[in-house]
Amino acid sequence: MLDLFLIIWIILLVFGLITFIYGFPAMIKVGPIPTSKKGTEKAVALADIKPGENFYELGCGEGRVLVKTVEKYDCFGVGYELVIPYYLLAKLRARLSKKSKNINVRCQNFFKADLRDADVIFCFLTPGLMQKLGKYFQEQELKKGVRIVSYAFKIRNLEPERIIKHSKENWNIYMYRL
Ligand SMILES: C[S@@+](CC[C@H](N)C(=O)[O-])C[C@H]1O[C@@H](n2cnc3c(N)ncnc32)[C@H](O)[C@@H]1O
Repeated sequence: MLDLFLIIWIILLVFGLITFIYGFPAMIKVGPIPTSKKGTEKAVALADIKPGENFYELGCGEGRVLVKTVEKYDCFGVGYELVIPYYLLAKLRARLSKKSKNINVRCQNFFKADLRDADVIFCFLTPGLMQKLGKYFQEQELKKGVRIVSYAFKIRNLEPERIIKHSKENWNIYMYRL
């Protein structure tokens, strides 16, 4: 019994250390700040996702938005996350979902992602990353009519089709259609 507790303690300690080592730099750079539940729901609803469409989340964190969206809209979800502990949590959350077969979590830099299949792309990042992503989107062969939803930050040089305010945080949500 004591051995089992010791093993659990060691696992938690190792996991905590990994989280700190890998997570801390990214927390400073991008922030692990999960979007508020209501804000996320509003943002995703803007894209008007249809069953069977492909929803991509760039920087999916611990996977809450990704999994909830797939479950709610009966779509397919692909999430990209670089920070290993978040990626593992997202993977676990996806595995436990009743729609697990429709969810794919990748531990990969989203600037190397193949987005040709995406119908909807969701991101909650930083102004700098959104600017880079704007360029990246323009260089990619994206589907005609792909909807891009950005929580909080604009994509420079692109005209949003809709902007709504999320009153709680006083942030805007932007929806683009390419
Ligand atoms: C502000 S969090 C948002 C998490 C989640 N989308 C949500 O709304 O709750 C941004 C996430 O993007 C991830 N990220 C930042 N740059 C990335 C990159 N180039 N490739 C993959 N993930 C990245 C960060 O590790 C972080 O988990």
